[in-house]
Amino acid sequence: MPLPCIPDNLNNLNLDWQKLAPFTSKAMHELGRYDGTLRGIVNPGVLLSPITNREAVLSSQIEGTQATLLEVLNHEAGQEYDELKRNEIHEIINYRHALLTGEEYLKERPITLQLIRQLHAMLMQDVRGGDKTPGKFREDQNWIGKKGSTIEQARFIPPNPVVMQEYLTKLQTFIDEDYFDPLVQLAIIHAQFEVIHPFNDGNGRLGRMLVPLFLFQKGVLQRPMFYLSEYFEETDQIYRDKLLAVTAAKDWQGWIEFFLRAIQIQAERNNNKAKSILGLYESKKSVFRDLTKSKFSQAALDALFKKPILNSTDFQKLTGIDSRPTATAILKALQQGGEIRLLRAGAGRSPGIFAFPALLEIADGK
Ligand SMILES: Nc1ncnc2c1ncn2[C@@H]1O[C@H](COP(=O)(O)OP(=O)(O)O)[C@@H](O)[C@H]1O
Ligand SMILES: [Mg+2]
Repeated sequence: MPLPCIPDNLNNLNLDWQKLAPFTSKAMHELGRYDGTLRGIVNPGVLLSPITNREAVLSSQIEGTQATLLEVLNHEAGQEYDELKRNEIHEIINYRHALLTGEEYLKERPITLQLIRQLHAMLMQDVRGGDKTPGKFREDQNWIGKKGSTIEQARFIPPNPVVMQEYLTKLQTFIDEDYFDPLVQLAIIHAQFEVIHPFNDGNGRLGRMLVPLFLFQKGVLQRPMFYLSEYFEETDQIYRDKLLAVTAAKDWQGWIEFFLRAIQIQAERNNNKAKSILGLYESKKSVFRDLTKSKFSQAALDALFKKPILNSTDFQKLTGIDSRPTATAILKALQQGGEIRLLRAGAGRSPGIFAFPALLEIADGK
C-alpha cells in the first residue's frame, strides 16, 4: 500500500528568495492598490457583498457545486428550485455565512484551529451526503483521487490521522509567526492546510477562506475581503497539479510563485470590480432620486446593492418603508425607468421579484 505523506517542516523549505522577490513585490503592489480602494468605501458590507457572494459560488464550484450566483440570489428572493439545486445553493449560502462569520470573529481574535473547526461546522451545516462530520477533524485515513478510486490508486495520501494533530499544531504556530513575508507565508499555509487535509470534506473551501482572514490578521488588508477562487477555478488543473507537486516533488517554490501570481491577478481584478461597483453606486444615486422623487431613494439603492435580486417584501424590510403602496410606487418608478426588471409578478401570497441588472452584470463578470 502507498504510504501517507509526512508533511514538510515549514521553516526549512529551501526557497529561492531572490527568485520570489519580483512575485512578492508585484502581488504586494496590487494588494496595496486594492486596499486603498477598500479604505475609500464607507459601506463595504453593502457594496462588496457581490464580491463575497461570487467568492462563495466560485470556491464551491472548484469543489463541484454547480449552482450559479444568479440561482443563489434568485433562491434568496423566493424563486423555487428542485431539491438537488436547493442543496447546492444551501452549500453556497453556508459558505458565505462561514466567510462572513470568520471576518467578524477576526476583528477580536486571531485564526485558531478552533475557529477553523467552527467555520467548518457552518460550512457543513445540514449538508446532504454521508461523511461530512461538521466541525470535526478526521479520525480516518483519507486520500485524494478520482471519484471512487481506492487508496492504491490515490493521487495523494494526506498524513495518517494519528500524526495529523501534530502537524496542525505546527501549522498553527506557523500562522502566528512573524515570517519574512506575509504573502509567502500565506501561500505556504494554504498548501500545508491542503496537504494535511484535516477534514473528511471541505478542505479546499476552508483553505481558501483562510486567505482573506490571514491577510486581515497580518494587517496587509484593512478589511478581510479579498478572494482567490476565481483564479483557482480558471486554472483548476494547474492549481491541483501545483499542490500535488508540493508533496510529490517538494516543489514549494513552484507553488508559491503560482500563488503569488494568483494574488497579483486577483487583486487587480478585485480592485477593478470594487471600483466599478463604487462607480455604479455613485452614478445611480441621482438617477434613483430623479426617478423615484422619494426620500427613500437612497434606501432603495442600498437595498438593491445588498440584494440585486429581491422580492417586494425584502425591499420593504431593507428600506424600512412601512407603507406598501409607497414601496410599490418606488419599485414601479424604477422599473419604468429601466433600472430594475420584474422577474416574477407578485401573485397571491408570493411577492413580486425584481432584478437590478446593472449591478448583476458587474457582480457576475470578471
Ligand atoms: N494533490 C493535492 N495535494 C494537496 N491538496 C490537494 C491536492 N489536490 C487537490 N487538493 C486540494 O483539495 C481540495 C479538495 O478537497 P476537499 O476536502 O474535497 O475540499 P472541498 O470539499 O472544499 O473541495 C482542492 O480544492 C484543493 O485545494
Ligand atoms: Mg469535497
